[in-house]
Amino acid sequence: MNEILNYIDSNKDNFLGELIEFLKIPSISSEEKYKPDVLKAADWLANHIKSIGISDVKVHETEGHPIVFAQWLEAGENAPTVLVYGHYDVQPVDPLELWDSPPFEPVIKGTKIYGRGTCDDKGQLFAHLKSIESHLKINGKLPVNIKLIFEGEEECGGEAIEHFVKTNPELLKCDTVLVSDTEWYADGLPSICYGLRGISYFEITVTGPDRDLHSGTYGGTLDNPVNTLCWLVSQMHDKYGRVTIPGFYDSVIPLTQRERDGYKLLPFNEEHYCKELGIKATNGEFGYTTLERAWARPTLDLNGIFGGYTGDGAKTIIPSKASAKLSMRLVPNQTHDEIAAKFEDYIQKLAPETVKVDVKYLHGGNPFMVGLESKSISAALEALEEAVGVKPVFMRDGGSIPIVGLFQIILNAPTVLMGLGLPDDNIHSPNEKFDLRNFFSGIKASAIFLDKLAKI
Ligand code: BES
Ligand code: ZN
Repeated sequence: MNEILNYIDSNKDNFLGELIEFLKIPSISSEEKYKPDVLKAADWLANHIKSIGISDVKVHETEGHPIVFAQWLEAGENAPTVLVYGHYDVQPVDPLELWDSPPFEPVIKGTKIYGRGTCDDKGQLFAHLKSIESHLKINGKLPVNIKLIFEGEEECGGEAIEHFVKTNPELLKCDTVLVSDTEWYADGLPSICYGLRGISYFEITVTGPDRDLHSGTYGGTLDNPVNTLCWLVSQMHDKYGRVTIPGFYDSVIPLTQRERDGYKLLPFNEEHYCKELGIKATNGEFGYTTLERAWARPTLDLNGIFGGYTGDGAKTIIPSKASAKLSMRLVPNQTHDEIAAKFEDYIQKLAPETVKVDVKYLHGGNPFMVGLESKSISAALEALEEAVGVKPVFMRDGGSIPIVGLFQIILNAPTVLMGLGLPDDNIHSPNEKFDLRNFFSGIKASAIFLDKLAKI
């Protein structure tokens, strides 16, 4: 192992230079005009995988963005097989004016690299490629069989990977799934994540009169779609911060006392949390701590609301239409189908007959939870500890990686969420960054992990 770790240490500049090339490709999956760049990122990745010594690589076309799949199976039938998942697409960059440097021209300041996708998820997935390269360069082989699957639609809720996984269970067959698309608990404190929330994402449109009307002439004589939409969304929570959709909590697995006690032992300072976010106080479902609310309780939030006049000054109208983007974060054992149906029923029940209410389901993903007792999880804990020099903690996370739930069902292999980001990496925000110390220790952790897996 030492030689491999030395190889990593002496190739830091090369690794970083390559990562920067990858980061420069603006692979924003949700915006049509970047489609060629998403494809370019997939091709770049496939070529890079070839260049590190894995020749069986394919860019699979899909109805949406391509899936990059590669495999190296020369460790033989008796060696375990690891499936590494990641996503090469990134979030949009707006508001661009809040970036200190252009999102696709990565810059390094101190120990951090800034740019869109540095942390989520190009930097993290690249750590595994560099770990694999290091094994291949030093030993000419890998200690385990490796399959790589990288998608280009994670950030836009695309369904291509779901179809791919359902139709290719044999190709993806493995003993462990390895994903780096989450975060450490804190700077200097690595973690293994054992739970993620799911998601149900909707757009609601309320339509009233067939054109905007003078609010003096007509105001008070008909329902105003913006008022109605605001009323509708205000019906979604009670005064205890609980979601009021009938049956919403029916299949929620409650937090165990062990989890609640464990979370209390994690360093958490409510004041720092507020200060870092620029808020006066936290708030949420009554009876739960901030960590519990973020990791283990389902929520409903508006992502955006629009309609009527939003330009300069005042314009007196009753708008014709109003819309909202709304998502629910789900926890085990809720399913996105179940919750979507309950939400739609509730909205239709509440909707006044005076307006038209359209509900469009944009996408969904199921929540995820993995048991802590597998050998893969133990190996990951040890590998991270050896690479970083600090014992990792177990945590859950509030974000979603929709495909991991399906991996669990179809592949029936333990999933290791070995995230490398930091909580303040600004993923999905301006000035996204990735700490290079985490990048390099992540490469080492990955390399040690593969070695350990071969020995259990
Ligand atoms: N890497 C994130 C998931 C994540 C975020 C994990 C924060 C841990 C902490 C992932 O790329 C992501 O953002 N997923 C989307 C999925 C959605 C678009 C279906 C999310 O959670 O919003
Ligand atoms: Zn991600």
